[in-house]
Amino acid sequence: MSNRETLIRGKDLTKVFGYGNGKTTAVDAVNFSFHKGEIVSIVGESGSGKTTLAKMVMGLLKESGGTVEYKGAPRRLKSHADRKRYWKDIQAIFQDPFSSFNLFYRVEKLLMDCIKLQGAKLSKEEQERKMKEACSFVNLKFEELHNKYPFELSGGQMQRLMIARIFMLHPKVLIADEPTSMVDACSRSTILDMLLKLRDENDMTIIFITHDVGLAYYVSDTIYIMEKGKIVETGPAEDIILNPQHSYTRQLINDVPKIHSTWDLGS
Ligand SMILES: Nc1ncnc2c1ncn2[C@@H]1O[C@H](COP(=O)(O)OP(=O)(O)O)[C@@H](O)[C@H]1O
Ligand SMILES: [Mg+2]
Repeated sequence: MSNRETLIRGKDLTKVFGYGNGKTTAVDAVNFSFHKGEIVSIVGESGSGKTTLAKMVMGLLKESGGTVEYKGAPRRLKSHADRKRYWKDIQAIFQDPFSSFNLFYRVEKLLMDCIKLQGAKLSKEEQERKMKEACSFVNLKFEELHNKYPFELSGGQMQRLMIARIFMLHPKVLIADEPTSMVDACSRSTILDMLLKLRDENDMTIIFITHDVGLAYYVSDTIYIMEKGKIVETGPAEDIILNPQHSYTRQLINDVPKIHSTWDLGS
């Protein structure tokens, strides 16, 4: 991966919450590089700082120290125009898809908003063709869902709708924070396969955040292991899983149930 363009780099990125005795260092001077077209997993137990790290990369949370670089220059989020430009390139999906949607909008409007964000003037037919194409990318039928409200969909359908929106917005970087934790095992592997397809067809960079080292092994090129705000080990997914160097990584691997649908120790 080192020969590929670096899109995002974190240098000594730090986040401290609270003051005095109540101080928590959620992210502690971490360094990372995410390359174009790469799927990177950030793996750690609950509370290890993964979401805090993701929110700082997104620019939704201000860092206490360190920097985030985007395309080789310090990221600027000062003006409205800066933020608009950055968020066109970098999008996120979170654990609870219901929290990211306006629940009073029907599916058609949720998808139409993505078309409007693109700014192109399209005919009604072209708009509908784009919405259908996005739905079929995630195996949803636009005709069946377009009039429904989010609460009429299952968790798996909602996550797929989130991915349909990403397909339409085609950001350069997608941050997926535990996108499979609220869906059943079957929808889980479908969602992972869709992330792989987004990367393969659009050369998207995907940051996949999970507590499940098995899922990370299944989708990623590179793994970062996070423990108590620190990155304790990083490398190609194969090396990390088949030859872990850090005791915390070994513990995470041992905690995975032995029979795991995405786990293939034989290879
Ligand atoms: N807004 C906040 N205020 C105070 N502490 C927070 C806040 N968000 C997260 N934390 C703390 O930071 C640590 C890391 O949390 P988080 O980034 O959510 O971890 P993860 O996503 O790996 O479960 C935890 O100890 C959590 O309690
Ligand atoms: Mg989290």
